[in-house]
Amino acid sequence: MLRAHILLLAGLCATLSSAVTIDMEGLPDTGLDTSTWVTGVAPPLEDLYELNDLQIAAKNTLKPSSYASYRTGALDEITYQANLEIWQYIKLNGFTFRDVSDLNLNTSILGYNFSLPFFIAPAANAGLANSTTAELSLVEAAGDAGMLYVPSISSTKSIEQIASASVSPDQVMFHQEYVWSNKTRLQDELTRIEAAGFKAIFLTVDNTGINGIRTRSIRFTGEETDPGHASTFDLKALAAVRNMTSLPIVPKGIKTWQDAKTCLDLGFEAIYVSNHGGRVLDGAPTSVEVLLDIRKNAPEVFEKMEVYADGGVRRANHVITLLALGARAVGLGRSAMFSNLYGKEGVARMIYLLQTELGTSMKLMGESDVSAINSSYINTKWVENRYFGFGSS
Ligand SMILES: Cc1cc2nc3c(=O)[nH]c(=O)nc-3n(C[C@H](O)[C@H](O)[C@H](O)COP(=O)(O)O)c2cc1C
Repeated sequence: MLRAHILLLAGLCATLSSAVTIDMEGLPDTGLDTSTWVTGVAPPLEDLYELNDLQIAAKNTLKPSSYASYRTGALDEITYQANLEIWQYIKLNGFTFRDVSDLNLNTSILGYNFSLPFFIAPAANAGLANSTTAELSLVEAAGDAGMLYVPSISSTKSIEQIASASVSPDQVMFHQEYVWSNKTRLQDELTRIEAAGFKAIFLTVDNTGINGIRTRSIRFTGEETDPGHASTFDLKALAAVRNMTSLPIVPKGIKTWQDAKTCLDLGFEAIYVSNHGGRVLDGAPTSVEVLLDIRKNAPEVFEKMEVYADGGVRRANHVITLLALGARAVGLGRSAMFSNLYGKEGVARMIYLLQTELGTSMKLMGESDVSAINSSYINTKWVENRYFGFGSS
C-alpha cells in the first residue's frame, strides 16, 4: 500500500516536472495549451489547429540549435517581426449577397496547374526537423495536395533524391538555386536540376556574396563561413546565368519596384518578391509594402509578369492579402519546415489547415474563385500611409 502511494507520488512529480511552459514569442494567443507537453516529445498532431501551433510544437521538440536555425532572422529581426505584424494593419472587405457555393482554389504558376495558390518555398536543411525523410516528406505532401514545392539547393537530400520522391510523373516541382562564385558548380547544378525534371529555377538574386548575420543561430554554430555566393553578380552575370539553362528563371528576393521593373524590361516571365523571411537584409520592407510600391510605381509589372511573394504568411488571410495585392502565388517557408517534424503527415496537416482557412475566409468575403481575388477585397490605407508618408497619394 505504502509502495503504491510512493509510486503514485513519483508519477505525479514526474508529470508536474515535465509540464512545460514555452515562450510563445508574441505569437497570437489562440489558447494553445502546452501544459501536458513534454520537452523533446512531439505533441499530438491533431491538437495543433493552426500554423503557429506547429511552430510552438517544433520549438518544444527540436534541438534548440535546430529550432534556432529555422526560426532565426538577421540582426535585430526587425524585418522578421514586421513580416509577422504587417497583417494587422490590413482590413479585409467581406461582401454579402453572393453565391459562394462553388469554391475554386486552383491556380496556374508559370503555366502549370496547381490546386492551391500557396506553395512550399525553398528552405535549407529539412533534415534538421526530420532526419529520415527530410525534403522527401515535403515532396510527397505537396504532391498529394497538388501544390507546388520548390526545394532549396541547400537541401539535406540531393537534387535527384528529391526529384525521385515525386508521387506521380505529373507532379511539377521547381528548384531554387544560388548564384555561386564557382561557375562550374553553378552550371553542374543547373544541368542536374533540369535533367531531374524540375520545371523552373527560383534564382535567389540578392545574397550577393554573403548571408545575413543571423545571431540567434550563430550563437549555436559560431560565425558563418563564406557561403560561396558571387559578390560580382550584376546584370551581365544575370544574363550569363540565363544562358546556362533552358529552364525559366524566376529572380527571388526582389525588394524594390526598380528591380521588379528591371526584371520586366529584361523579359522575365515572373519575379518572386521576398525578404527571405527576414533572414537576409534586416530593415528590408515586407512583401505587402513592396507589392504596394510596385503597384504605385510600376503597375505594368502585374499585367506582364507573374509575381510570387512570401514572408510571415501564417494564415490564409495573409495569402488573400498578397493575392489581392497582385501576387499569383504565395510561399510558405518556416511553417513547412516546422510541420515536417511530423513527416509527411505534419506537412499534410499544415496544408489542410491553411486550405480550410482559405476556403472559409473566401466564403466569408463573398468570393468563391481564388483567381478573382483583387484589390477590392482589401483596404491597405494604413500601411500606405505609414510606408509612403501621410498625405501622399
Ligand atoms: C530555415 C530556412 C532556410 C531557408 N533557406 C533558403 C534557401 O536556401 N534559399 C532561399 O532562397 N530562401 C531560403 N529561405 C527563405 C524562404 O524561401 C522564404 O523566403 C521565407 O522562409 C518565407 O518566410 P516565412 O518563413 O516567414 O514563411 C529559407 C528560410 C528558412 C526559414
